Amino acid sequence: MSQDTHAIVFAGGLVADGSGAALRAGDVAVSGERIAAVGEPGSLRGRETIAIRDRVIAPGFIDAHTHDDRAVLSTPEMLPKLSQGVTTVVVGNCGISLSPLTLPDERVPPPLNLLGGREQFRYPTMAGYAAAVDRAQPSVNVAVLVGHASLRVAVMADLERPARADELAAMRGLLAEGLAAGAAGFSTGLYYDPNRGADMEEVVPLARDTAQAGGVYATHMRDENDAVEESLDETFTTAGRAGVAVVVSHHKCAGRRNWGRTVATLAKIAAAAERQEVGLDAYPYVAGSTVLRPDLADGDIRILVTWSEPHPEMAGRDLADIAAAWGCSQREACDRLQPGGACYFQMHEDDVRRVLAFPGTMIGSDGLPHDAHPHPRLWGTFPRVLGHYARDLQLMRLEQAVHKMTGLTAGRFRLRDRGTIRPGAFADLVVFDPATVADRATFETPQLPSAGIELVMTNGTVGYRDGRPTGRRGGRFLRRG
Ligand code: ZN
Ligand code: CU
Repeated sequence: MSQDTHAIVFAGGLVADGSGAALRAGDVAVSGERIAAVGEPGSLRGRETIAIRDRVIAPGFIDAHTHDDRAVLSTPEMLPKLSQGVTTVVVGNCGISLSPLTLPDERVPPPLNLLGGREQFRYPTMAGYAAAVDRAQPSVNVAVLVGHASLRVAVMADLERPARADELAAMRGLLAEGLAAGAAGFSTGLYYDPNRGADMEEVVPLARDTAQAGGVYATHMRDENDAVEESLDETFTTAGRAGVAVVVSHHKCAGRRNWGRTVATLAKIAAAAERQEVGLDAYPYVAGSTVLRPDLADGDIRILVTWSEPHPEMAGRDLADIAAAWGCSQREACDRLQPGGACYFQMHEDDVRRVLAFPGTMIGSDGLPHDAHPHPRLWGTFPRVLGHYARDLQLMRLEQAVHKMTGLTAGRFRLRDRGTIRPGAFADLVVFDPATVADRATFETPQLPSAGIELVMTNGTVGYRDGRPTGRRGGRFLRRG
C-alpha cells in the first residue's frame, strides 16, 4: 500500500489501460498533470476521492483524424469532442492544415474552405500556430500534421501539375519549419483538386523529410472508389520509398459498385503491414462528408447538404429534394449550392463493421466543426463505437474499442506518455458508464452530446463533469518526440 497522499484518486473503477488488456478493478491517482499511481481497489489515498464503482476509467480518447485546426482556436471549449471523452485531437488531416499558409485573395480553394474563410488563414509559420494554440488553451491537446494542399497553395501558382524543383524546395522548407515546431507529421489529400496534381516524385521527398524528423505520413488517398486498390499500392510504394510510417485515412470502399471490397483492401493492408509500418483510421458511419462534389451527385446515393454559402437555408435537406423543388438535376443543384458541403451515404454497413473490427484500425471522427448541419460523427463517433458497436453489436470487446481510441493511436502518432494508464503518463483520463454510453447525434439532429461520459480530464485538469464543461481547460499543443 502506498503511503502517499495524492491530489485526486479515482477509486474502485474498472481500469481499461489503453493496451487492450482485460478490465481490472483498481484505483488511479493523479498528482499535478500526471498519473501518480495505479493500485488495487481501496489502496490509494487522495485529498479528493472520486468513487467510480461500476464505471470504466480509460485514457482520454485520441481523435486520430480531425479538421479541428481552427476550432481549437475559435471554440477552445471543444465541446463536441470533450463531451465524447476526447482529450487529444490530431489536426491537419487530408492535406488540409491551417498553417503554414496565408491567402492572397478572397477565394479559398476547396477543400481548404472546410476550415473557414480567408481571414482564418493567418499563420504563415507552424511555430506561430503552436503559440496561438497555447494562448487559446483548448480543453484538448492538439497534435498537428502539415498539410500538402496547404503547402502547394502556399508556393504554387498552377496546382494542376507536379511541383517544379524550386517549388518542391520551397515546400520542403515550409515542412521543415513545421516539423521543427513540433508537428507530428505530414498529410496528403490526393483526392482533392489542390493536391491531385502531385505525383510520387513530389510526395516521396516530403514524406522522407517527415520520416527523418521522426514524423508520420497520413493520406486521404487519390481514390476510395473504383481504384481504391491501386491507391493503396500508390500509398505503400510512396511510404516504402520514403521510409515513413503511413496512416491510411478514413478507410472505405465508396460507391455501390465497390461495396464488399474491404475484404480485399484489408487483406492488402495486412500484407503491407508485414513489410512496413501501416496504420489506418475510420469513423463508425456509412456516410462520409466533405465539400460539395458534383462528381458524387450521380443519383445513386443519398446526399444530405451540410452547408451552402449561397443557400444557407438548404443545410439539413437532401440534395434530391432540393433538385426536385428547383426542377433541375442533382448535379445542377450541386453546382448552384457551391461553395458548400454534404454527407454522402456511400458505404455499406458490412464494410464499415469490417474496417472498424480490423485490429489496426484507429478511431478518427473526421468531424467538420464549422458545418451548419454537420455529419453526426462530429459529436458521436467515440460513444457510438463504445456503445453501439462494442456493447450492443459486440463487434469487439470494450477493451479493444478503448485501445483503438488510445494506446494504438498514441503509438502510431508517437504521442509519448499518452493513451495509457500507468504511473508517469499524462493524466488524460475519461470516466464513463459502460452500460449507458451511447451517441445521441443523428443525421437529423447532429449536434447532441453523447450519453454516459461522466468525467474528462486533460493533463490533470477536469474539463468536463456531470454532463457539462467545468470552465477549466487543460489542453496544449503537443510537440513531437
Ligand atoms: Zn479526408
Ligand atoms: Cu478528413
